[in-house]
Amino acid sequence: MSMFELLRRDGLARICKLETPHGILETPALLPVINPRTLTVSPRELYDVFGFKAIITNSYIIRNDEKLRGQALSGGLHELLDYPGVIMTDSGTFQSYMYGEVDVKNEDIVTFQRDIGSDIGTVLDIFTEPEWSMERTSDAVDVTLARTEVAAKLKGDMLLAGVVQGSIFPDLRERCARSLAAIEADVHPIGGVVPLMEQYRFAELVDVIVASKKGLNPARPVHLFGAGHPMVFALAALLGCDMFDSASYAKFARDGRFMFPEGTASLSDMKYISCHCPACHGHTYEEIVAMTPARRAELIARHNLWVSQEEILRIKRAILEGDLWELVERRCRGHPALLDALRKLGDYEEFLELTEPLSRERAVFYTGPETLNRPAIKRYQRRFFERYEYPKTEAMIVFDETSKPYWRHRQQEMQEILSECDSHFFVESILGPVPIELDEMYPIAQSVMPLRGDRDAVEGMKDLMERMSHEHPYAVAVGWDGKQTLDTLMMVCSDEPSFDLDLARVKAVSDYQFGQGAGSILLDGQVELKKSNNTGKIRNVIVDGEHILSMRANDGFFTLRPPGAERLRKGFPAPRLRVMVKDDSVPFNRDGRNVFCTFVQECDPGLRPMDEVLVVNSSDELVAIGRAMLTRDEMLAFQTGMAVKVREGIKK
Ligand code: GUN
Ligand code: ZN
Repeated sequence: MSMFELLRRDGLARICKLETPHGILETPALLPVINPRTLTVSPRELYDVFGFKAIITNSYIIRNDEKLRGQALSGGLHELLDYPGVIMTDSGTFQSYMYGEVDVKNEDIVTFQRDIGSDIGTVLDIFTEPEWSMERTSDAVDVTLARTEVAAKLKGDMLLAGVVQGSIFPDLRERCARSLAAIEADVHPIGGVVPLMEQYRFAELVDVIVASKKGLNPARPVHLFGAGHPMVFALAALLGCDMFDSASYAKFARDGRFMFPEGTASLSDMKYISCHCPACHGHTYEEIVAMTPARRAELIARHNLWVSQEEILRIKRAILEGDLWELVERRCRGHPALLDALRKLGDYEEFLELTEPLSRERAVFYTGPETLNRPAIKRYQRRFFERYEYPKTEAMIVFDETSKPYWRHRQQEMQEILSECDSHFFVESILGPVPIELDEMYPIAQSVMPLRGDRDAVEGMKDLMERMSHEHPYAVAVGWDGKQTLDTLMMVCSDEPSFDLDLARVKAVSDYQFGQGAGSILLDGQVELKKSNNTGKIRNVIVDGEHILSMRANDGFFTLRPPGAERLRKGFPAPRLRVMVKDDSVPFNRDGRNVFCTFVQECDPGLRPMDEVLVVNSSDELVAIGRAMLTRDEMLAFQTGMAVKVREGIKK
């Protein structure tokens, strides 16, 4: 079992470490394809100059070439290629797809890869083509699975790549992935997608990746076979692909095509060279056109590698900084077919929500109507309708969107209205109906929208307001129109004002963050709120003299204090909000040490990354409080890495 550890994540996208016989590979990673017979750019240069710490080559080609085969078997693959990093090998499947039958057996090619010292060897899978019938595809999946089981017994110290096939049939993809999860493979390439990418069928590629990810073990790296264009890297990474490989950099170069994350540019169409990568730097368009075809292809191949490597680094930055969704939305504007793929993500709202963090450091930037399909926003709408409890006031006033936080900008109007009637307040936002007391919470306060809403956005907002109008309990509901509205309210309202913004905020955020009913559980008793002198924002929540919650200034959510955690533990039955740890972990966690995956016994499936969690022992006693780094399925699947970042241990 190879070690794969998740270090940082944003949704399904993740920065991980994969342990291989030739060192640790950090993902996401692009593996340039090396043709052992024609080295456009040498493996040594890829490692030393470009910084590619892994490459992929074809064991079938090596095996069929007497000289290469002998050298590989005697001195090893790394010596043959003069490459010190991680070498993955493919099996000949792609050759059989391109040129028909190959004369090699699964057992032989897997053994050969192992014997030449490949770090990651690939099964001889069957390339399932998009034109095939479901029946033919299903049979091919069965053969691939049987071969993978055989390969797992032969792999030795080599990591085994077990390929997900199943063409464009989501059920077959998921079935194949689920079966692979039960086999001792180490890496899971998603195969059979080259034709989809060549034909720009990116929306179908989304279906294929999602179906595969659903079935796979989350603690194994996923490789997207044949994904070599930097314009798809961000989208694929967002969906949880950890590795890519590309022969395109060299193929495109031979046709005079420059790759960019925004798309492809042909030298024949270009008038200027607008790139300053180390390959292009110092060369004019005229110089490049005047080069011999071989030199030109070399220059463009190097350009394509630099640009691809830069995009991988850009994606890593985005994962760490929390703006991968923005990057993907921008990249998907590089081609209408990619925009289709972006829109397709809207179909997978529920699946994407499972790994969506509670909040991010970066605000949501609106880049277009597709932004409204992001899981951060869909979750807001869903939790609002499922978890929010309306305050029992007589009236409700709906304000138009203003600057944020809303309460500050509507303070004067709210005071005026409250002096006349028992009202509560909403803002009609592009994100949906926002009760005034949720206005400091992610993503409401942490979102930046254009002032002029587009048609889709405005329509979506009206639909959500309409939905709320069927549910809310208020006797009177009106849009705010200044003095006029006040006059109307004075005529129809009779109850005494009862709305307390601060208390409502603590309750509404609690219900949203911890689940319906959490507010009542936490606030049962004498409530006292400590506010910041500078900002007027709530800092600490004290109930019956105990500090139970602290409100975070950055995302408007609560950090649990031990007495608050204890209230939730008593109020919600297990496994709600809990990570149950094994006995040998308990003393460490009581001491304030983090919870590691191998020590997780059970976990609430409702927990999301960055959620506050109660760490409990097998008798459901509180041993620590902290933040979930992973989902339940991930905590139980990973063999290493942090599951809960503990903030405070609880001594016996
Ligand atoms: N290279 C590109 N696609 C594939 C695939 O489906 N299987 C294998 N083994 N290699 C590939
Ligand atoms: Zn360049």
